[in-house]
Amino acid sequence: MQVLETIAEVRAARRGLTSLGLVPTMGFLHAGHLSLVERAKAECGAVAVSIFVNPTQFGPSEDLSRYPRDLPRDLAMLEAAGVELVFTPQPAEIYPLGFSTRVEVGAVAGPLEGASRPGHFAGVATVVAKLFNIVQPTRAYFGQKDAQQSVVIRRMTRDLDLPVEVVVAPTVREADGLALSSRNAYLTPEQRTAAPVLFRALSKAQASFTLGERNAETLRNAMRDVIANTPEAEVDYVSLADPDTMEELVLIDTRALASLAIRFGHTRLIDNLLLEETARL
Ligand code: PAF
Repeated sequence: MQVLETIAEVRAARRGLTSLGLVPTMGFLHAGHLSLVERAKAECGAVAVSIFVNPTQFGPSEDLSRYPRDLPRDLAMLEAAGVELVFTPQPAEIYPLGFSTRVEVGAVAGPLEGASRPGHFAGVATVVAKLFNIVQPTRAYFGQKDAQQSVVIRRMTRDLDLPVEVVVAPTVREADGLALSSRNAYLTPEQRTAAPVLFRALSKAQASFTLGERNAETLRNAMRDVIANTPEAEVDYVSLADPDTMEELVLIDTRALASLAIRFGHTRLIDNLLLEETARL
């Protein structure tokens, strides 16, 4: 496994590889990241993983400085997973002095995470566009847990004609339903016990949808009711949106993205489930 810190080294290592999968990460890897690596290994000739805690996607009051990091552990996990290239740039390699370009994706980046975290998606889109240009992967792998991020990245990739196939892989969960996230490491034992409420609320919406409920506000209220029973959980948003446009729905036709952001003290967790009518035989 080659561990590379500079763009020049990545470009040199990229030469001669016909099919390359990229898994962009901010490190502190968990089984969710490894599932993306595994999928990339199955679908691509070689796999690159980037580890970069991207400062431009954090707001001034967010957790950049305390974001969990453990590079030796991450590298050991990636070596064991059979990854060929790891790109671990310093911030100045990605954002050298004088850097002043931002990739702003339009409407899909506006609501939900975009509204709660102003500037977040411009930071994500800018760094992902740069990673695509540096690594030049044939495919890039993202997790469904960050559903809106995937929509933003797909939109950007299409709009800028970037020659990368964006693959979105299912969320990996703990046995109690909590979606794997590097931020779970911040939770106190009490908050960790309370945190599966996200999945319980989403599952409640899914169950009502399966029983035929199509009124979006009724489903949002069903999620809010579940969360209201957990005093540690403070709602940031509860959403039932069109999974392509991210616009809030009134009535659901065949598909909807149920998503939510919940605070446990200083820790903010997100999760989602796609509600979809299954074809009747
Ligand atoms: O999902 C993440 O970990 C980050 O947003 C990403 C895609 C690596 C960009 O920094």
